[in-house]
Amino acid sequence: MLKPFIAANWKMNKTVGETEEFIQSFIPMIEGITDADILIAPPYTSLGAAFRLLQTTNIKLAGQNVHYEEKGAFTGEISPAMLLAEGCSDVIIGHSERRQYFSETDEIVNKKVKTARKNSLEVILCIGESLQEREGDKTFEVLDRQLTGSLKDMQMAGISIAYEPIWAIGTGKTATPGQANEAHAFIRGWLKKNKDGAERVRILYGGSVTPENIEILMAQPEVNGALVGGASLKPDSFAKIVKGSI
Ligand code: PGA
Repeated sequence: MLKPFIAANWKMNKTVGETEEFIQSFIPMIEGITDADILIAPPYTSLGAAFRLLQTTNIKLAGQNVHYEEKGAFTGEISPAMLLAEGCSDVIIGHSERRQYFSETDEIVNKKVKTARKNSLEVILCIGESLQEREGDKTFEVLDRQLTGSLKDMQMAGISIAYEPIWAIGTGKTATPGQANEAHAFIRGWLKKNKDGAERVRILYGGSVTPENIEILMAQPEVNGALVGGASLKPDSFAKIVKGSI
């Protein structure tokens, strides 16, 4: 069995002070837990403060996005070296909100994955279909296209996949455990067919994960972890999700 991987995606939430408050309460809640990998992706502005509190723990720190160039005239963007310097080991790439609101295509996502890996950042690559695509029976077609485009010329070492059906993100509408497992099994099959080391890749589910549904989701054979938005903003709720994943 792959070690569960539970990641918090805070999106555009929490100031530095709120980040410190969260982490100070969260650390004692998960003390002694070694059977799950835990990661927090705060906003860029909180990375430094988060790292200072997390560096003596085994909680990983991640950026929510990264640019595909190493440096230069890209106002408002952040490079892999900047994330590394702030203490990040990981980065989330291709989140549906980036794809939807910031026009990130599979080609851009692929460039980001390449630059991140070249700089030794581990990657959580997000993919997932919209409601319209699911209802039009296009889920597997969309996943195939996103995997093919985003992972072009890449090997899987240092990359996890987050399957996040867009219709389940922030809506309170979770995919059923069966729907999640079916999509994860498709992703695993795709990886086996196209990449080496497919059985070692952790596939996380994301979309309205809560302390109430984590156990049933993790009971699915192909679900190896979770990418959690809303329910990761409160220390006790995120700690319950971590505990429920083991
Ligand atoms: P949610 O977000 O848990 O609030 O649905 C998940 C995500 O977007 O990663």
